[in-house]
Amino acid sequence: MINSPTTEHLWMPFTANRQFKSKPRLLSSAKGMYYQSADGREILDGTAGLWCVNAGHNHPKIIEAIQKQAATLDFAPTFQMAHPLAFQAASKLAEMSPAGLDRVFFCNDGSEGVDTALKIALAYHRVRGDAGRFRLIGRERAYHGVGFGGIAVGGIAGNRKQFGAALAGVDHLPHPLNISKNAFSKGLPEHGVELADVLESRLLALHDPTTVAAVIVEPIQGSTGVIIPPKSYLQKLRDICTKYGILLIFDEVITGFGRLGSAFAANYFGVIPDMIVCAKGLTNAAVPMGAVIVNTGIYDTFMENSPKDAIELFHGYTYSAHPLACAAAIAALDVYQEEQLFERAAQISTYFEAAAHQLRDLPTVKDIRNLGLVCGIELLPQEGKSTTRAYDIFEKCFWEKNVLIRTTGDIIALSPPLIINKDQIDTLFSKLRDAIVEQAKG
Ligand SMILES: Cc1ncc(COP(=O)(O)O)c(C=O)c1O
Repeated sequence: MINSPTTEHLWMPFTANRQFKSKPRLLSSAKGMYYQSADGREILDGTAGLWCVNAGHNHPKIIEAIQKQAATLDFAPTFQMAHPLAFQAASKLAEMSPAGLDRVFFCNDGSEGVDTALKIALAYHRVRGDAGRFRLIGRERAYHGVGFGGIAVGGIAGNRKQFGAALAGVDHLPHPLNISKNAFSKGLPEHGVELADVLESRLLALHDPTTVAAVIVEPIQGSTGVIIPPKSYLQKLRDICTKYGILLIFDEVITGFGRLGSAFAANYFGVIPDMIVCAKGLTNAAVPMGAVIVNTGIYDTFMENSPKDAIELFHGYTYSAHPLACAAAIAALDVYQEEQLFERAAQISTYFEAAAHQLRDLPTVKDIRNLGLVCGIELLPQEGKSTTRAYDIFEKCFWEKNVLIRTTGDIIALSPPLIINKDQIDTLFSKLRDAIVEQAKG
Protein backbone atom coordinates (compact mmCIF):
# COMPACT_ATOMS: atom_id res chain seq x y z
CA MET A 1 0.00 0.00 0.00
CA ILE A 2 1.32 3.44 -0.93
CA ASN A 3 0.81 5.80 1.98
CA SER A 4 2.33 8.97 0.64
CA PRO A 5 2.88 8.98 -3.10
CA THR A 6 4.48 11.93 -4.85
CA THR A 7 1.52 14.11 -5.73
CA GLU A 8 3.13 16.74 -7.95
CA HIS A 9 2.57 15.21 -11.42
CA LEU A 10 -1.16 14.67 -11.33
CA TRP A 11 -3.35 17.60 -12.34
CA MET A 12 -6.51 16.68 -10.46
CA PRO A 13 -9.96 17.27 -11.95
CA PHE A 14 -12.44 19.61 -10.23
CA THR A 15 -10.05 19.86 -7.29
CA ALA A 16 -8.23 22.67 -5.52
CA ASN A 17 -4.91 21.00 -6.34
CA ARG A 18 -2.70 22.94 -3.96
CA GLN A 19 -5.13 22.63 -1.08
CA PHE A 20 -5.57 18.88 -1.69
CA LYS A 21 -1.86 18.18 -2.06
CA SER A 22 -1.11 19.88 1.23
CA LYS A 23 -3.06 17.07 2.96
CA PRO A 24 -4.14 14.35 0.48
CA ARG A 25 -7.23 12.30 1.19
CA LEU A 26 -6.35 8.89 -0.23
CA LEU A 27 -8.54 5.85 -0.68
CA SER A 28 -6.80 2.55 -1.27
CA SER A 29 -9.46 -0.16 -1.45
CA ALA A 30 -13.19 -0.68 -1.06
CA LYS A 31 -15.82 -3.28 -0.30
CA GLY A 32 -19.58 -2.95 -0.06
CA MET A 33 -20.50 0.24 1.81
CA TYR A 34 -16.93 1.10 2.84
CA TYR A 35 -13.72 2.56 1.54
CA GLN A 36 -10.42 1.82 3.20
CA SER A 37 -8.32 4.97 3.52
CA ALA A 38 -4.59 4.80 2.79
CA ASP A 39 -3.93 5.36 6.51
CA GLY A 40 -5.95 2.24 7.34
CA ARG A 41 -9.36 3.59 8.35
CA GLU A 42 -12.73 2.24 7.26
CA ILE A 43 -14.77 5.05 5.70
CA LEU A 44 -18.55 4.76 5.30
CA ASP A 45 -19.40 5.80 1.74
CA GLY A 46 -22.26 8.29 1.87
CA THR A 47 -21.88 9.23 -1.79
CA ALA A 48 -21.62 5.93 -3.72
CA GLY A 49 -18.20 7.18 -4.84
CA LEU A 50 -19.47 9.96 -7.07
CA TRP A 51 -23.15 8.99 -7.29
CA CYS A 52 -22.18 5.87 -9.19
CA VAL A 53 -21.43 2.72 -7.17
CA ASN A 54 -25.08 1.83 -6.73
CA ALA A 55 -24.59 -1.88 -5.93
CA GLY A 56 -21.80 -1.17 -3.44
CA HIS A 57 -18.09 -1.47 -4.04
CA ASN A 58 -16.27 -4.38 -5.65
CA HIS A 59 -19.31 -6.50 -6.24
CA PRO A 60 -17.97 -10.05 -6.86
CA LYS A 61 -20.20 -10.71 -9.87
CA ILE A 62 -19.13 -7.54 -11.62
CA ILE A 63 -15.45 -8.10 -10.85
CA GLU A 64 -15.64 -11.62 -12.19
CA ALA A 65 -17.31 -10.49 -15.41
CA ILE A 66 -14.63 -7.88 -16.05
CA GLN A 67 -11.77 -10.26 -15.28
CA LYS A 68 -13.20 -12.92 -17.56
CA GLN A 69 -13.78 -10.49 -20.38
CA ALA A 70 -10.27 -9.01 -20.10
CA ALA A 71 -8.84 -12.46 -20.67
CA THR A 72 -11.18 -13.20 -23.62
CA LEU A 73 -11.46 -10.12 -25.82
CA ASP A 74 -9.60 -7.02 -24.71
CA PHE A 75 -10.84 -4.77 -27.47
CA ALA A 76 -12.83 -4.86 -30.66
CA PRO A 77 -13.87 -1.85 -32.72
CA THR A 78 -17.53 -1.02 -33.12
CA PHE A 79 -16.99 1.09 -36.24
CA GLN A 80 -18.00 -1.27 -39.08
CA MET A 81 -17.25 -4.23 -36.76
CA ALA A 82 -18.73 -5.43 -33.51
CA HIS A 83 -18.65 -8.09 -30.80
CA PRO A 84 -21.62 -9.95 -29.31
CA LEU A 85 -21.51 -8.29 -25.88
CA ALA A 86 -22.17 -4.89 -27.46
CA PHE A 87 -25.57 -6.10 -28.66
CA GLN A 88 -26.29 -7.96 -25.44
CA ALA A 89 -25.52 -4.90 -23.31
CA ALA A 90 -27.72 -2.71 -25.54
CA SER A 91 -30.62 -5.18 -25.36
CA LYS A 92 -30.34 -5.50 -21.59
CA LEU A 93 -30.34 -1.74 -21.15
CA ALA A 94 -33.26 -1.34 -23.57
CA GLU A 95 -35.26 -3.93 -21.61
CA MET A 96 -34.76 -1.94 -18.43
CA SER A 97 -35.69 1.38 -20.06
CA PRO A 98 -39.13 2.99 -20.21
CA ALA A 99 -41.39 1.76 -23.01
CA GLY A 100 -40.60 3.30 -26.36
CA LEU A 101 -36.97 3.99 -25.54
CA ASP A 102 -35.15 1.02 -26.95
CA ARG A 103 -32.28 2.04 -29.18
CA VAL A 104 -28.95 2.46 -27.42
CA PHE A 105 -25.87 4.45 -28.45
CA PHE A 106 -22.82 3.75 -26.26
CA CYS A 107 -20.15 6.20 -25.22
CA ASN A 108 -17.75 6.36 -22.28
CA ASP A 109 -19.19 8.70 -19.68
CA GLY A 110 -21.90 11.19 -18.92
CA SER A 111 -20.27 14.13 -20.69
CA GLU A 112 -19.99 12.19 -23.93
CA GLY A 113 -23.54 10.97 -23.42
CA VAL A 114 -24.84 14.53 -23.18
CA ASP A 115 -22.94 15.71 -26.24
CA THR A 116 -24.12 12.60 -28.11
CA ALA A 117 -27.76 13.26 -27.21
CA LEU A 118 -27.54 16.92 -28.26
CA LYS A 119 -25.94 15.91 -31.56
CA ILE A 120 -28.59 13.26 -32.18
CA ALA A 121 -31.28 15.88 -31.51
CA LEU A 122 -29.80 18.35 -33.99
CA ALA A 123 -29.15 15.67 -36.61
CA TYR A 124 -32.65 14.19 -36.15
CA HIS A 125 -34.33 17.42 -37.15
CA ARG A 126 -31.99 17.84 -40.12
CA VAL A 127 -32.48 14.32 -41.30
CA ARG A 128 -36.22 14.87 -41.48
CA GLY A 129 -35.77 18.14 -43.33
CA ASP A 130 -36.24 20.60 -40.46
CA ALA A 131 -32.75 22.09 -40.20
CA GLY A 132 -34.15 25.34 -38.81
CA ARG A 133 -34.32 23.67 -35.41
CA PHE A 134 -30.89 24.51 -34.09
CA ARG A 135 -31.54 25.84 -30.60
CA LEU A 136 -30.93 23.90 -27.42
CA ILE A 137 -32.49 24.77 -24.08
CA GLY A 138 -30.92 23.82 -20.78
CA ARG A 139 -31.51 25.12 -17.28
CA GLU A 140 -29.84 27.40 -14.78
CA ARG A 141 -27.64 25.49 -12.32
CA ALA A 142 -27.75 22.37 -14.52
CA TYR A 143 -24.76 20.07 -14.71
CA HIS A 144 -24.43 18.20 -17.98
CA GLY A 145 -20.77 17.27 -17.83
CA VAL A 146 -17.82 19.09 -19.29
CA GLY A 147 -17.99 18.77 -23.08
CA PHE A 148 -18.63 21.97 -25.00
CA GLY A 149 -22.25 20.94 -25.58
CA GLY A 150 -22.68 20.04 -21.93
CA ILE A 151 -21.28 23.30 -20.58
CA ALA A 152 -23.34 25.27 -23.09
CA VAL A 153 -26.66 23.81 -21.91
CA GLY A 154 -25.33 23.54 -18.37
CA GLY A 155 -25.97 26.38 -16.01
CA ILE A 156 -23.23 26.31 -13.40
CA ALA A 157 -21.36 29.56 -13.90
CA GLY A 158 -18.03 28.28 -12.61
CA ASN A 159 -17.98 25.50 -15.21
CA ARG A 160 -18.44 27.95 -18.09
CA LYS A 161 -16.59 31.14 -17.37
CA GLN A 162 -13.04 29.96 -18.14
CA PHE A 163 -13.99 28.69 -21.58
CA GLY A 164 -15.47 31.50 -23.62
CA ALA A 165 -18.72 31.49 -25.54
CA ALA A 166 -19.31 27.71 -26.03
CA LEU A 167 -22.25 26.93 -28.38
CA ALA A 168 -24.44 29.54 -29.99
CA GLY A 169 -28.23 29.31 -29.93
CA VAL A 170 -28.59 28.11 -26.35
CA ASP A 171 -30.94 29.43 -23.71
CA HIS A 172 -31.80 28.37 -20.17
CA LEU A 173 -34.90 27.74 -18.10
CA PRO A 174 -34.90 29.11 -14.55
CA HIS A 175 -33.96 26.55 -11.92
CA PRO A 176 -36.80 25.53 -9.62
CA LEU A 177 -35.11 25.87 -6.21
CA ASN A 178 -37.21 28.14 -4.00
CA ILE A 179 -36.15 27.82 -0.38
CA SER A 180 -38.37 30.65 0.82
CA LYS A 181 -41.47 28.68 -0.23
CA ASN A 182 -40.31 25.07 -0.16
CA ALA A 183 -37.79 24.80 2.69
CA PHE A 184 -37.58 21.37 4.34
CA SER A 185 -39.88 19.73 1.77
CA LYS A 186 -40.00 15.98 2.06
CA GLY A 187 -40.00 14.62 -1.46
CA LEU A 188 -41.43 16.77 -4.23
CA PRO A 189 -41.83 20.46 -3.35
CA GLU A 190 -45.32 21.96 -3.56
CA HIS A 191 -44.44 25.25 -5.21
CA GLY A 192 -42.89 26.07 -8.55
CA VAL A 193 -44.72 24.21 -11.32
CA GLU A 194 -45.24 27.57 -13.03
CA LEU A 195 -41.49 27.71 -13.69
CA ALA A 196 -42.03 25.05 -16.36
CA ASP A 197 -44.45 27.42 -18.11
CA VAL A 198 -41.53 29.79 -18.64
CA LEU A 199 -40.48 27.44 -21.43
CA GLU A 200 -43.54 28.36 -23.42
CA SER A 201 -44.35 31.85 -22.20
CA ARG A 202 -40.84 33.30 -22.35
CA LEU A 203 -38.27 31.12 -24.15
CA LEU A 204 -40.39 29.76 -26.99
CA ALA A 205 -42.19 33.07 -27.35
CA LEU A 206 -38.83 34.80 -27.65
CA HIS A 207 -37.03 32.37 -29.93
CA ASP A 208 -39.93 30.91 -31.99
CA PRO A 209 -40.66 27.27 -31.15
CA THR A 210 -39.86 26.15 -34.70
CA THR A 211 -36.18 26.99 -34.09
CA VAL A 212 -35.85 24.78 -31.00
CA ALA A 213 -34.39 21.28 -31.36
CA ALA A 214 -34.35 20.03 -27.78
CA VAL A 215 -34.79 20.75 -24.10
CA ILE A 216 -32.43 18.96 -21.73
CA VAL A 217 -32.92 18.67 -17.98
CA GLU A 218 -31.72 16.53 -15.11
CA PRO A 219 -34.88 15.18 -13.43
CA ILE A 220 -33.12 15.98 -10.15
CA GLN A 221 -30.34 18.52 -10.38
CA GLY A 222 -27.62 16.71 -8.47
CA SER A 223 -24.22 18.35 -8.79
CA THR A 224 -25.53 21.83 -8.15
CA GLY A 225 -26.77 20.77 -4.73
CA VAL A 226 -29.80 18.52 -5.08
CA ILE A 227 -32.69 20.49 -6.56
CA ILE A 228 -35.88 18.43 -6.63
CA PRO A 229 -38.49 19.28 -9.28
CA PRO A 230 -41.77 20.70 -7.95
CA LYS A 231 -44.88 18.57 -8.31
CA SER A 232 -46.05 18.24 -11.96
CA TYR A 233 -43.08 20.29 -13.24
CA LEU A 234 -41.53 17.58 -15.44
CA GLN A 235 -44.92 16.62 -16.89
CA LYS A 236 -45.45 20.26 -17.83
CA LEU A 237 -42.13 20.35 -19.67
CA ARG A 238 -43.09 17.14 -21.45
CA ASP A 239 -46.44 18.57 -22.55
CA ILE A 240 -44.91 21.76 -23.90
CA CYS A 241 -42.17 19.89 -25.80
CA THR A 242 -44.74 17.55 -27.32
CA LYS A 243 -46.97 20.45 -28.33
CA TYR A 244 -44.15 22.09 -30.31
CA GLY A 245 -42.32 19.04 -31.69
CA ILE A 246 -39.29 19.67 -29.46
CA LEU A 247 -37.31 16.70 -28.19
CA LEU A 248 -37.10 16.28 -24.42
CA ILE A 249 -33.86 14.80 -23.10
CA PHE A 250 -33.52 13.59 -19.52
CA ASP A 251 -29.96 13.58 -18.26
CA GLU A 252 -30.20 10.63 -15.87
CA VAL A 253 -26.49 10.26 -15.20
CA ILE A 254 -27.25 10.53 -11.48
CA THR A 255 -30.86 9.41 -11.31
CA GLY A 256 -30.47 6.31 -13.48
CA PHE A 257 -30.25 2.81 -11.99
CA GLY A 258 -32.24 2.98 -8.83
CA ARG A 259 -31.41 6.29 -7.20
CA LEU A 260 -35.14 7.06 -6.90
CA GLY A 261 -36.17 3.46 -6.36
CA SER A 262 -36.92 2.73 -10.01
CA ALA A 263 -34.74 2.04 -13.04
CA PHE A 264 -34.93 5.66 -14.16
CA ALA A 265 -36.41 8.88 -12.87
CA ALA A 266 -38.58 8.77 -16.00
CA ASN A 267 -40.30 5.69 -14.51
CA TYR A 268 -40.55 7.29 -11.09
CA PHE A 269 -42.22 10.44 -12.45
CA GLY A 270 -44.19 8.65 -15.15
CA VAL A 271 -42.81 11.18 -17.63
CA ILE A 272 -41.17 9.68 -20.67
CA PRO A 273 -38.59 11.77 -22.51
CA ASP A 274 -37.41 11.19 -26.10
CA MET A 275 -33.89 10.35 -24.96
CA ILE A 276 -32.24 9.37 -21.70
CA VAL A 277 -28.56 9.96 -21.05
CA CYS A 278 -27.06 7.58 -18.52
CA ALA A 279 -23.59 6.58 -17.28
CA LYS A 280 -22.20 6.02 -13.75
CA GLY A 281 -24.42 3.21 -12.36
CA LEU A 282 -24.62 1.62 -15.80
CA THR A 283 -21.50 -0.39 -14.95
CA ASN A 284 -21.67 0.27 -11.21
CA ALA A 285 -18.74 2.56 -12.12
CA ALA A 286 -16.36 -0.37 -12.41
CA VAL A 287 -15.49 0.50 -16.03
CA PRO A 288 -16.29 3.88 -17.59
CA MET A 289 -19.36 3.76 -19.82
CA GLY A 290 -22.19 6.02 -20.87
CA ALA A 291 -25.19 5.56 -23.11
CA VAL A 292 -27.96 7.45 -24.81
CA ILE A 293 -31.22 5.54 -24.89
CA VAL A 294 -33.25 6.77 -27.80
CA ASN A 295 -36.91 6.60 -28.73
CA THR A 296 -37.41 4.07 -31.53
CA GLY A 297 -39.04 6.69 -33.75
CA ILE A 298 -35.87 8.81 -33.68
CA TYR A 299 -33.72 5.86 -34.71
CA ASP A 300 -36.20 4.90 -37.44
CA THR A 301 -36.17 8.45 -38.78
CA PHE A 302 -32.41 8.17 -39.34
CA MET A 303 -32.80 4.78 -41.01
CA GLU A 304 -35.67 5.83 -43.24
CA ASN A 305 -34.16 9.09 -44.37
CA SER A 306 -30.61 8.02 -45.17
CA PRO A 307 -29.41 6.19 -48.29
CA LYS A 308 -29.47 2.45 -47.67
CA ASP A 309 -25.72 1.84 -47.54
CA ALA A 310 -24.76 5.14 -45.97
CA ILE A 311 -23.62 5.85 -42.43
CA GLU A 312 -26.72 7.33 -40.80
CA LEU A 313 -25.02 9.20 -37.95
CA PHE A 314 -21.48 10.52 -38.22
CA HIS A 315 -20.64 10.11 -34.58
CA GLY A 316 -18.97 7.57 -32.29
CA TYR A 317 -16.02 6.87 -30.02
CA THR A 318 -13.16 4.39 -30.36
CA TYR A 319 -14.31 2.92 -27.08
CA SER A 320 -18.08 2.92 -27.76
CA ALA A 321 -19.26 -0.45 -26.40
CA HIS A 322 -15.79 -1.42 -25.16
CA PRO A 323 -15.86 -5.14 -24.31
CA LEU A 324 -14.88 -4.60 -20.65
CA ALA A 325 -17.52 -1.93 -20.23
CA CYS A 326 -20.16 -4.15 -21.85
CA ALA A 327 -19.24 -7.04 -19.56
CA ALA A 328 -19.45 -4.76 -16.54
CA ALA A 329 -22.79 -3.30 -17.67
CA ILE A 330 -24.41 -6.68 -18.26
CA ALA A 331 -23.21 -7.87 -14.85
CA ALA A 332 -24.27 -4.68 -13.07
CA LEU A 333 -27.75 -4.69 -14.62
CA ASP A 334 -28.08 -8.36 -13.63
CA VAL A 335 -27.07 -7.56 -10.07
CA TYR A 336 -29.60 -4.73 -9.85
CA GLN A 337 -32.33 -7.16 -10.89
CA GLU A 338 -31.22 -10.25 -8.98
CA GLU A 339 -30.72 -8.36 -5.73
CA GLN A 340 -33.80 -6.19 -6.36
CA LEU A 341 -31.78 -3.14 -5.50
CA PHE A 342 -34.19 -0.61 -6.96
CA GLU A 343 -37.04 -1.98 -4.86
CA ARG A 344 -34.70 -2.00 -1.87
CA ALA A 345 -33.83 1.65 -2.44
CA ALA A 346 -37.53 2.52 -2.66
CA GLN A 347 -38.23 0.75 0.63
CA ILE A 348 -35.39 2.24 2.63
CA SER A 349 -35.82 5.74 1.24
CA THR A 350 -38.51 6.61 3.84
CA TYR A 351 -36.09 5.75 6.65
CA PHE A 352 -33.38 7.76 4.89
CA GLU A 353 -35.76 10.72 4.55
CA ALA A 354 -36.69 10.65 8.23
CA ALA A 355 -33.03 10.45 9.29
CA ALA A 356 -32.09 13.35 7.00
CA HIS A 357 -34.84 15.64 8.31
CA GLN A 358 -33.76 15.06 11.90
CA LEU A 359 -30.93 17.50 11.19
CA ARG A 360 -33.51 20.26 10.82
CA ASP A 361 -33.04 21.54 14.37
CA LEU A 362 -29.41 22.49 13.80
CA PRO A 363 -29.05 26.28 13.67
CA THR A 364 -26.66 26.29 10.71
CA VAL A 365 -28.96 24.13 8.56
CA LYS A 366 -30.98 26.27 6.15
CA ASP A 367 -32.80 23.61 4.12
CA ILE A 368 -33.05 19.84 3.69
CA ARG A 369 -34.40 18.33 0.48
CA ASN A 370 -34.61 14.70 -0.52
CA LEU A 371 -36.03 12.12 -2.89
CA GLY A 372 -35.27 8.41 -3.09
CA LEU A 373 -31.73 7.91 -1.84
CA VAL A 374 -30.59 11.45 -2.50
CA CYS A 375 -30.54 14.26 -0.03
CA GLY A 376 -29.22 17.80 0.00
CA ILE A 377 -28.52 19.72 3.20
CA GLU A 378 -28.04 23.40 2.59
CA LEU A 379 -26.11 25.31 5.22
CA LEU A 380 -26.08 28.97 6.12
CA PRO A 381 -22.89 30.40 4.65
CA GLN A 382 -20.28 31.68 7.05
CA GLU A 383 -20.12 35.44 7.08
CA GLY A 384 -18.02 36.58 4.12
CA LYS A 385 -16.77 33.04 3.45
CA SER A 386 -19.24 31.11 1.33
CA THR A 387 -18.44 27.42 0.81
CA THR A 388 -16.04 27.15 3.76
CA ARG A 389 -18.62 25.82 6.19
CA ALA A 390 -19.51 22.80 4.08
CA TYR A 391 -15.89 22.16 3.16
CA ASP A 392 -14.85 22.17 6.83
CA ILE A 393 -17.61 19.66 7.59
CA PHE A 394 -16.50 17.48 4.67
CA GLU A 395 -12.94 17.41 6.02
CA LYS A 396 -14.10 16.73 9.55
CA CYS A 397 -16.28 13.88 8.29
CA PHE A 398 -13.41 12.33 6.38
CA TRP A 399 -10.61 12.69 8.93
CA GLU A 400 -12.45 12.44 12.24
CA LYS A 401 -15.81 10.76 11.63
CA ASN A 402 -14.81 8.22 8.96
CA VAL A 403 -17.68 9.04 6.63
CA LEU A 404 -17.52 10.28 3.07
CA ILE A 405 -19.92 13.07 2.14
CA ARG A 406 -19.89 15.40 -0.84
CA THR A 407 -20.22 19.14 -0.86
CA THR A 408 -20.89 21.77 -3.45
CA GLY A 409 -20.84 25.38 -2.32
CA ASP A 410 -22.53 25.37 1.06
CA ILE A 411 -24.61 22.30 0.29
CA ILE A 412 -23.92 18.76 1.49
CA ALA A 413 -25.12 16.06 -0.92
CA LEU A 414 -25.65 12.46 0.14
CA SER A 415 -26.30 9.61 -2.29
CA PRO A 416 -25.21 6.33 -0.70
CA PRO A 417 -25.04 2.97 -2.45
CA LEU A 418 -28.49 1.38 -2.68
CA ILE A 419 -27.34 -1.41 -0.35
CA ILE A 420 -27.13 0.91 2.66
CA ASN A 421 -28.93 -0.47 5.74
CA LYS A 422 -30.68 1.28 8.62
CA ASP A 423 -27.70 1.10 10.98
CA GLN A 424 -25.48 2.65 8.36
CA ILE A 425 -28.04 5.38 7.70
CA ASP A 426 -28.05 6.10 11.46
CA THR A 427 -24.26 6.22 11.53
CA LEU A 428 -24.07 8.46 8.47
CA PHE A 429 -26.47 11.05 9.87
CA SER A 430 -25.27 10.95 13.47
CA LYS A 431 -21.63 11.48 12.40
CA LEU A 432 -22.74 14.23 10.08
CA ARG A 433 -24.74 15.84 12.89
CA ASP A 434 -21.67 15.79 15.13
CA ALA A 435 -19.53 17.32 12.40
CA ILE A 436 -22.07 20.10 11.73
CA VAL A 437 -22.36 20.88 15.45
CA GLU A 438 -18.59 20.89 16.01
CA GLN A 439 -17.99 23.06 12.96
CA ALA A 440 -20.55 25.61 14.20
CA LYS A 441 -18.73 25.83 17.56
CA GLY A 442 -15.52 26.66 15.68
C1 LIG B 1 -26.38 14.97 -14.56
C2 LIG B 1 -24.98 14.73 -15.02
N1 LIG B 1 -24.71 14.75 -16.33
C3 LIG B 1 -23.48 14.52 -16.79
C4 LIG B 1 -22.44 14.26 -15.93
C5 LIG B 1 -21.08 14.05 -16.47
O1 LIG B 1 -20.69 12.73 -16.32
P1 LIG B 1 -19.16 12.32 -16.45
O2 LIG B 1 -18.45 12.94 -15.30
O3 LIG B 1 -19.20 10.84 -16.42
O4 LIG B 1 -18.67 12.84 -17.76
C6 LIG B 1 -22.68 14.21 -14.56
C7 LIG B 1 -21.62 13.91 -13.60
O5 LIG B 1 -21.77 13.97 -12.41
C8 LIG B 1 -23.98 14.46 -14.09
O6 LIG B 1 -24.27 14.47 -12.79
